[in-house]
Amino acid sequence: MRITVGEAIKVLKSGAIVALPTETVYGLAASVGHPEAIAAIFSRKGRPSSNPLIVHVAEISQAEELIAQWPPLARELMEAFWPGPLTLLVPAKEGAVPVAVTAGLPTVALRAPMQEQTREILRAVGPIVMPSANLSGMPSATTAAHVEADFGADFPVVDGGSSPLGLESTIVAYIEGRWRLARRGALCSEALEELLLYHLDELAYVGGGSAVQDKPLCPGQLLRHYAPQAILLLRQDFSDDSLEGVILGFSDRRYPPRCKIIPLGRSKNPDEVAAALYGALRRLDLEGHAAAFVDITFPATGLWTTISERLQRAAKR
Ligand code: TXA
Ligand code: MG
Repeated sequence: MRITVGEAIKVLKSGAIVALPTETVYGLAASVGHPEAIAAIFSRKGRPSSNPLIVHVAEISQAEELIAQWPPLARELMEAFWPGPLTLLVPAKEGAVPVAVTAGLPTVALRAPMQEQTREILRAVGPIVMPSANLSGMPSATTAAHVEADFGADFPVVDGGSSPLGLESTIVAYIEGRWRLARRGALCSEALEELLLYHLDELAYVGGGSAVQDKPLCPGQLLRHYAPQAILLLRQDFSDDSLEGVILGFSDRRYPPRCKIIPLGRSKNPDEVAAALYGALRRLDLEGHAAAFVDITFPATGLWTTISERLQRAAKR
């Protein structure tokens, strides 16, 4: 059910939940000040309570009240990339962020999205938690229709059109003296490295005195994720003309004649592919395909690394 920005503001202030558009993916929104709304997010998504939520703000000034300590270059990163697809994990100020939001972790995840309707809502409501607006484990939603497919036609959503970036925000954390990559995302590490002037190591796990342990940095990243019901078969060689089936492929490549192609965009345009990715994965289920090949012949640079990571996870059984 499509609602206006004004209606969304009222609903959020009353302690209920709505879906909002962002430049990355749609989010399931609750005001940080309403514990019952935060609880509703976990139950509607089927999300484990051990998986914390990103707090979204309109600007740096709204974030200031939630931060206990500023890691080096945190402000520079926010100034350079906010509003936009960058989330920072920073020490949370005690009492300022509900425990349900951080899942008991000492850090809070902060992001200022760029989408104008959602910025207006953030200015009016204050900080808002937003996980991606999909059922837990499924591909994220990049249109209002995707949100309605997961949560029902009556679920309130502000329609902001297709999310232009199509992949979740990049998450960074300051650990053991440097910023590290906690989740690949819509902002490429190369852009961050230009500001940091050092290599951004990727970290799946951290803890204790050593860099790698059994403690997940982003609890959500451990799970099978972004996955349609359809089985995904990642593949590079499509030279066998007798191959049959569905291929998530590039619009400028030739594939075996008996295959049905679901286009991901052009092979030289990672932005286009990122924007189309979750819609294409959702389309497999919508059309009832049990399995599909995915063409993963692309470079290991820039945004392609995020696209590749999402496909690897989505293909996990
Ligand atoms: O682009 C995005 O980031 C979207 C839009 C809606 O803003 N949001 C999003 O939220 O992707 P979600 O919940 O689907 O993914 C957030 C990830 C999860 O893997 C979660 O475990 C991690 O961020 N996370 C959140 N708070 C954290 C914290 N305090 N410490 C470590 N990881 C955290
Ligand atoms: Mg998600």
